[in-house]
Amino acid sequence: MDGKKTLYSAIQPTNNLTIGNYAGAISNWLKLQNDYDCYFAIANMHAITVRQNPAELRQKTLSMLALYIACGIDPDKCCLYIQSHVPAHAELCWVLNTFTYVGEMERMTQFKDKSARHAENVNMGLMDYPVLMAADILLYQAEYVPVGEDQRQHLEIARDIAQRFNNIYSPTFTVPEGLFLKVGAKINDLQEPVKKMSKSAENPNGSVFLSDDRDTVIRKFKRAVTDSGSEIKYDPENKPGVSNLLTIYSVFADKTIPEAEAEFAGKGYGDFKLAVGEVVSDRLAPVKSEQAKILADREYLNTVLKNGAERAAHTAGRTLSKVYKKIGFYQI
Ligand code: TYM
Repeated sequence: MDGKKTLYSAIQPTNNLTIGNYAGAISNWLKLQNDYDCYFAIANMHAITVRQNPAELRQKTLSMLALYIACGIDPDKCCLYIQSHVPAHAELCWVLNTFTYVGEMERMTQFKDKSARHAENVNMGLMDYPVLMAADILLYQAEYVPVGEDQRQHLEIARDIAQRFNNIYSPTFTVPEGLFLKVGAKINDLQEPVKKMSKSAENPNGSVFLSDDRDTVIRKFKRAVTDSGSEIKYDPENKPGVSNLLTIYSVFADKTIPEAEAEFAGKGYGDFKLAVGEVVSDRLAPVKSEQAKILADREYLNTVLKNGAERAAHTAGRTLSKVYKKIGFYQI
């Protein structure tokens, strides 16, 4: 489209999104949507690798779409769709499975983490998660994939699979590159600032959810763990708590880290934490009310999804048919 390069990303409609998802993914997408041909999916097929409540999954899927739009992702510019609406994802995933080794999947950090957390349900889908993600990206011949730091390993494997296929046959897939933000690609837990902030954190005070109300957001930031000393300085190694808060402030206030440091020079941790909480809740408030408004208009959401799925299926179908031809599947 318009000679623009293609960009692909997705979020799973699971649990509540955190400000980490916002910082690492959505805030970055917003900046990129004008310059690239963008596909942003709702990865419900990835979501079921962990047991979901069906009614909640349905509701969270729509809620995620409303959130994308409320954050400013424009459905007239970007293709927004639900992964399961485009069967080519599952189809290409099957083919790519035969180009991926079990050992590679067993080594994936996220697989190891999730297997430990869901020991009662270490299913094949959990292990196959990165291959489905590779299929997502490769179907659209995406040049760029904006994601948070935790997805780096999955992106590497997608590149390996693409290159492996291209080498065995002939160039078929664009080999994608990750786009990682310099600031915000990894937002850490407020209670354990050396750990990634996650949707499923054990301590709910460690994660700030986009759905939290203002009082809750401010309370969580007030309780955030800081470091010894009193200086507000970016130094992830020695001051992980303060550095994480500076990162969050910089993303939500649209300021650089040095600007944020200068703003808080000479101030105490108490004032600083309150200011971070305020800037985050100020940014989230309009998004939340807009999301609620959009969510009430089911017809509009269905139209966006229908258009998105049609456009996505068209692009994905072209790649899948190319792949089927190369591997020797007879097509009518
Ligand atoms: P998910 O839903 O786990 O995460 C969505 C996005 O949020 C980023 N993220 C973070 N960024 C900064 N700090 C954090 N604490 C933090 N936590 C999460 C993630 O890096 C991700 O960008 N597997 C993907 C979904 C997916 C996908 C794809 C992405 C499915 N298919 C194809 C790109 C391309 C995921 O983990 O989503």
